[in-house]
Amino acid sequence: MTSAPTSRFPYAKGSDGSRRLGYGADYNPEQWPREVWEEDVRLMGEAGVNIVSLAIFSWARIQPASDTWDFGWLDEVMDLLHAGGIGVDLATATASPPPWLTTAHPEILPVTATGETLWPGARQHWRPTSPVFREHALRLVRKLATRYADHPALVAWHVNNELGCHNVYDYSDDAADAFRVWLRSRYTTLDALNHAWGTAFWSQRYSEWGQILPPRLAASHPNPTQQLDFKRFSSDALKDHLLAERELLGELTPGVPVTTNFMVMSGIKGMDYADWAGAVDFVANDHYVVPGPRDRDELSFSANLTSGIAGHRPWFLMEHSTSAVNWQPVNVAKQPGELARDSLLHVAHGADAVCFFQWRQSAAGAEKYHSAMVPHAGADSDLFRAVVDLGGTLEALAPVAGTEREPARVAVLFDWGSWWASEHDSHPTSRLDYHREALDWYSALLRLGVRADVVPALHTDFSAYDVVIAPVLHMVSQTAAKDLARYAENGGHLVTTYFSGVVDENDHIWLGGYPGALRELLGIRIEEFGPLLDGDTVGLDLELPGAGAHATGSLWTDRIDVVGQDVAVLARYRTGAYAGRPAVTRRSTGGGSASYVSTRLGIEGLAGLLPELLAPAEVTSELPEEARGSVELAVRRDAHHRYLFLVNRGETPVNLPGTTGEVLAGPAAAGGLVLPPREVVVLRQPAPGSAGADQGRPLG
Ligand code: GAL
Repeated sequence: MTSAPTSRFPYAKGSDGSRRLGYGADYNPEQWPREVWEEDVRLMGEAGVNIVSLAIFSWARIQPASDTWDFGWLDEVMDLLHAGGIGVDLATATASPPPWLTTAHPEILPVTATGETLWPGARQHWRPTSPVFREHALRLVRKLATRYADHPALVAWHVNNELGCHNVYDYSDDAADAFRVWLRSRYTTLDALNHAWGTAFWSQRYSEWGQILPPRLAASHPNPTQQLDFKRFSSDALKDHLLAERELLGELTPGVPVTTNFMVMSGIKGMDYADWAGAVDFVANDHYVVPGPRDRDELSFSANLTSGIAGHRPWFLMEHSTSAVNWQPVNVAKQPGELARDSLLHVAHGADAVCFFQWRQSAAGAEKYHSAMVPHAGADSDLFRAVVDLGGTLEALAPVAGTEREPARVAVLFDWGSWWASEHDSHPTSRLDYHREALDWYSALLRLGVRADVVPALHTDFSAYDVVIAPVLHMVSQTAAKDLARYAENGGHLVTTYFSGVVDENDHIWLGGYPGALRELLGIRIEEFGPLLDGDTVGLDLELPGAGAHATGSLWTDRIDVVGQDVAVLARYRTGAYAGRPAVTRRSTGGGSASYVSTRLGIEGLAGLLPELLAPAEVTSELPEEARGSVELAVRRDAHHRYLFLVNRGETPVNLPGTTGEVLAGPAAAGGLVLPPREVVVLRQPAPGSAGADQGRPLG
């Protein structure tokens, strides 16, 4: 076992030189008079803050006119922070172009699919493909990097901010030009493009590259492959901006790591972060909870997926909220304990820094009702006291810094291509929600107390997992189909669902019966899909040991014929158009298996079915029975220790009998642990096989 590679992560160091978990926020001193800055640094010290992201929206302040630069205030803030022992993740400040620039160059403003200009007045009003914007942005980056290259506070670069948050899809003429360049490099010839886009359909054949446009508002459904390629292109165009800034920073300050904040969270779909991971020196993520019955499942899922994107190396939580946000229809405050619990859940899934938006709550502007580390009420507040407490907890968790996540035995695959393609218009149903489907499986695993990794399909070696769950793996290339078949033949257990294996990477149907690319592996054939109307359901009989179990399906059904050898029917439709036919199947493939679930079972139904799907791999929960569902377990480790994070997700205390280990954070475990609501305990146990491994006992 080796430690995770962490050489480019901007760790703060303790007085003995050992690593500390990062703690801090976005810091926007330009919103405050000079006298507040000193008070800020003093309070940061009180809270244990050791890193801030600075100058994210400071372009207009740094460069008030094309040839005027004002760095005095920033020099002073950098010096003050350094004197306070606080490192700076310095933004390149390119996120929000200043009014003088958009006035002189309105051609940098993005354009919607319906041809409307997105005017200045908010933020991120720039076209990712505008050569004019790029030139001005890089000029600013050069100035900043040259000025602060040797400043002792500088520990990392923060490129732009949340690239694509508001400007991922731009349909301007710049975008059209860049799209054509991108397409030429993907297809080389127009013939290849015409084939990939299926332009024989609806008289769409192109005879010149110049005829091709982004999928602007059209009379009916735009060409699906054009839509798909535009999504790929738009993600690449933003990545290209990231790379352009990064390249310049690399030249000017080669020793300083570069990152940008991803947005791995529900509702953000446009950027293929699995593909972006190689463009940063360490992965950083922003996450905001949308309150609701599954909010902490979603938090755990997103943190877990961020770790997967980061190749299970430590990652940086760049933003989350201390309490309410300002951009939801109703912005609910966090309950006592939630601030720490949410933060520690990210650490449990590999975050080595915990930061917030923002340090001091704004008095003016669009985000004045968004919580911060120092609220409007000031430092004499329960919120600031909770912030100080969390600083103490993170200090106590210093031994966790630099450790890796211990891989789970089960993986849930997440695939941007399938996400984008499966939700296109003109499909069997418009009700399919790829993210919700993946989250359902994850929630069901949480309910059973089974630890799982959420991993991007791209670049993941899933042969390391005993069970791979691939919900709605809609787009499957020939290579991917072979990899999955090899996985199952070599003893892996694959589980997939309806609308999987249906199209190739060009969004062309695999012919001969669904699920096309996976038909042989699964040993089934489907002639026709049976999507269900809203509110319609089908009954299922589960043909499992100790039978009599029922489940209910919604959204989708399939008319399945079993065509392969060694296919067991695990459930049949009891009602609906396909009553009596198979609904869930499993084909044995030597040591492994390939299972297919043809309807949407929801969390409850999946939790009922999963034990059977996990049984061939002998995967069960590591948690004591009474804790399953209410407690989440995540494990980090190094060569000597395992660090168990036990998170009470619920509102009642949970018993963890026989759980032992050295308590690094959370309630002490005298004679068996009782975990109060919303609390987290972190236990250190010797790693199996290490000296002292007989002390501390695994769970379950
Ligand atoms: C993020 C953004 C921050 C702030 C925050 C509010 O999207 O990066 O600048 O706006 O949301 O939740």
